[in-house]
Amino acid sequence: MIVLGIESTAHTFGIGIIKTEANKTKILANVKDIYTTQKEGIIPAKVADHHVEVCDSVFQKSLEIAKIKKKDIDVIAFSQSPGLGHTLRIGAMFARTFAATLHKPLVGVNHCIAHLEIGRLLTKAKDPIMLYVSGANTQVIAYEAEKYRIFGETLDIGVGNCLDTFARLLGLGFPGGPKIEQLAKKSSKYIALPYVVKGMDVSFGGILTNIQTKFSSGEFSKEDLCYSVQETVFSMLVEVTERALAHTGKTKVLLAGGVACNKRLQQMVGVMCKERGATSYCPENQYLVDNGAMIAVLGKLMYDAGNELQIEKAIIEPYLRTDEVFVNWR
Ligand code: ATP
Ligand code: FE2
Repeated sequence: MIVLGIESTAHTFGIGIIKTEANKTKILANVKDIYTTQKEGIIPAKVADHHVEVCDSVFQKSLEIAKIKKKDIDVIAFSQSPGLGHTLRIGAMFARTFAATLHKPLVGVNHCIAHLEIGRLLTKAKDPIMLYVSGANTQVIAYEAEKYRIFGETLDIGVGNCLDTFARLLGLGFPGGPKIEQLAKKSSKYIALPYVVKGMDVSFGGILTNIQTKFSSGEFSKEDLCYSVQETVFSMLVEVTERALAHTGKTKVLLAGGVACNKRLQQMVGVMCKERGATSYCPENQYLVDNGAMIAVLGKLMYDAGNELQIEKAIIEPYLRTDEVFVNWR
């Protein structure tokens, strides 16, 4: 079976094509075009225009790389939730049109769960605690009784959003996380910052204001601030992840989401796991950031479990949370 996955929740328009045979999954193509900016943040209408502009070329390229024709596709999956209404609509329209004209079944998937399912597939991590860290989301998740339960999460902005907003102030453009990682490597001087863990939850808004104020004062270097913000926010994430391991008795941690590309975060999670006899898992970067392959992977699982969507019901759900999705494929 060949499944096409369409990702359009935010900055990335991505198409992934997977092929499954006798329980083996092969990723044939994973093509994406990312909206970037030098000065401003993400303006939804502008990103939607970007997706309209690139969707056909991304699709054609994915067919070429996968070496298949349109008619070979058996199932179409698209990111139905959560995300920016403007951009979700582009992917949904693309998927509905395709399903209607080619008479193919359609599946709508939750983007956050797709991040997790591709990680489980690629790393083979068995029943892990999942640390899902991206621009909009920061959640510590574990599967229990037909739902992905959220054990802890951000009380305000996502950790990636915190890094991106600070990077914008430094004039580094979007996405800023990778650039902060590079600057942080040039320092080892820790500047004390607020450390905000509340029970199993975290918060980044106050830290962001604090580093913005410190930078604007001119008393601190970019490098030292980048190093210090990484050390602080990643320690917070490691703390709640470790507590989730302790509470649930699980022994594996799976990293997911764009911020998990950060080598320092991977290292810190690895050290924590080692110290308590647990194991950490992390797929390669192209499957951590937003991508179409993960939408295809979850689409296939959901299709097999009978979750086909009627075209007229394929409307977007910008606010659907990870723990609201009924998981009938595990
Ligand atoms: P979601 O909808 O799941 O919240 P997203 O739209 O934020 O996802 P992702 O591609 O999962 O998209 O994550 C993007 C985020 O990851 C951005 O905030 C970006 O700065 C951050 N990021 C990417 N690489 C790194 C890195 N090396 N270090 C830190 N952050 C990174
Ligand atoms: Fe994402």
